[in-house]
Amino acid sequence: MAIITTEISRTFSEYLLIPRLTTKNCTPASVSLTTPLTKFKKGQTPKIELNVPMVSAIMQSVSDDGMAIALSRNGGLSFVFGSQTIESQTEMIRRVKKYKAGFVISDANLTKDHTLADVMALKAKTGYSTIGVTEDGTSHGRMLGIISGRDYRPSKDSPTKKVHEFMTPFDKIITGRFGITLPEANDIIWENKLNVLPIIDDENKLKYFVFRKDYDSHKEHPLELSNENKHLLVGAGINTRDYRERVPALIEAGVDVLCIDSSDGYSIWQKETLEFVKTNYAHIPIGAGNVVDTEGFQYLVDAGADFIKVGIGGGSICITREQKGIGRGQATSMIEVAEARDTHFEKTGEYIPLCSDGGIAQDYHMVLALAMGADFLMMGRYFARFDESPTRKMMVNGNYMKEYWGEGSSRARNWERYDMGADNSGLKFEEGVDSFVPYAGKLKDNLALTIGKIKSTMCSCGVTTIPDLMANAKITLVSATSIVEGGAHDVIVRDTNIK
Ligand code: IMP
Repeated sequence: MAIITTEISRTFSEYLLIPRLTTKNCTPASVSLTTPLTKFKKGQTPKIELNVPMVSAIMQSVSDDGMAIALSRNGGLSFVFGSQTIESQTEMIRRVKKYKAGFVISDANLTKDHTLADVMALKAKTGYSTIGVTEDGTSHGRMLGIISGRDYRPSKDSPTKKVHEFMTPFDKIITGRFGITLPEANDIIWENKLNVLPIIDDENKLKYFVFRKDYDSHKEHPLELSNENKHLLVGAGINTRDYRERVPALIEAGVDVLCIDSSDGYSIWQKETLEFVKTNYAHIPIGAGNVVDTEGFQYLVDAGADFIKVGIGGGSICITREQKGIGRGQATSMIEVAEARDTHFEKTGEYIPLCSDGGIAQDYHMVLALAMGADFLMMGRYFARFDESPTRKMMVNGNYMKEYWGEGSSRARNWERYDMGADNSGLKFEEGVDSFVPYAGKLKDNLALTIGKIKSTMCSCGVTTIPDLMANAKITLVSATSIVEGGAHDVIVRDTNIK
């Protein structure tokens, strides 16, 4: 007979946190959100720790190099999506690893023989007003000049006017030598009243621009997640099909951590992928998942996973539960897997970080997930709303929206994520939808607000660290009627447009 679990499968909205004593040392400023990303032995420190317990989902509509840079600068980490060619994924990883705060690779470049019309078109396409003029028109070609808005007058100048006729030529530009530090570059900018300082190498090839406006940028990112060389950390999603080729290419590009991306991680394919990485590239941490119970957790731990992702069917764009009848409420999954993790820790002294993946619809769900045992959270919808996600911003019914589609939608065509082995290639049916999410602005501003809420909730719970929260939070189930009580009720909410 089938195993029938009578325990109800529950989600975060069915729980609330009960306050505990808030002491004088329990203030938002004293709360630390540092958390392990990779497994470690009792008494040791993990190879990678996050400064903010959030990672962005392994999805085309969420995690490209732009998102990875923005999130890592703010203390979290992105797993760049794997449902693209190995070449384009490794290129994204390279771009993140090359990024240096304040040193910007010039994305808008032309040759001296282009025209003013080309300048205007490039400006409209990229939104940049500073254009590098290089011998071959590339980001790192030999520098011949620079164009800013002060070099031409679109109303008077002919669109066919050549770039070399109006650019500021190289011999009139103040430059910095490749290798100087950001404070040194900023000193040159201030002493010479510049808006931009091109950084060039010994052959006069353009390496970076440093902009005056970025002066304070590094001070504004105290939580930045970088290694000892100040390079940002970045992860990558992989699948259980082409890992023999993809993993070495990603490692060569500089990836810091891998994660197998699958809707159902309790499979022999994940075991084989983990064994391949552990045998050949033991120095690179790799996460696996997704699972929703003790059995799945233990299987992936035994196969060598460095962290485990928890959650099936809870994602905002996910229709797996409707399509296949597979899944489990996210809260119930987290509670059971966290118990298994704690038992494993007691028995072996090995701590396996858990990632709660999908279904975070409110900021308070984040604290609940952490209190229930998640070390960090993977989110798609949350990050898809920001400027830094790779999708289009569109006006829909009078409101700005960003596109957001599931990896199991026919738009993403990520059949490897839903692969059931051997000859089962190709997406047979959809497990995700194509949608819009309300546009929310910059990642940094939104994250600051969310972190403020998390810290404030933790203070109400009387704790200042995530392990403390896991050990001491008091959580209650809520009835359907008390959920109604939780919103505004028995009042007529004023329409703020009525004076
Ligand atoms: P969200 O944060 O609730 O939007 O959920 C994001 C998570 O949903 C991802 O990290 C994946 O685990 C999962 N996911 C992504 N695409 C799909 C899909 O097409 N179907 C089902 N789940 C998906």
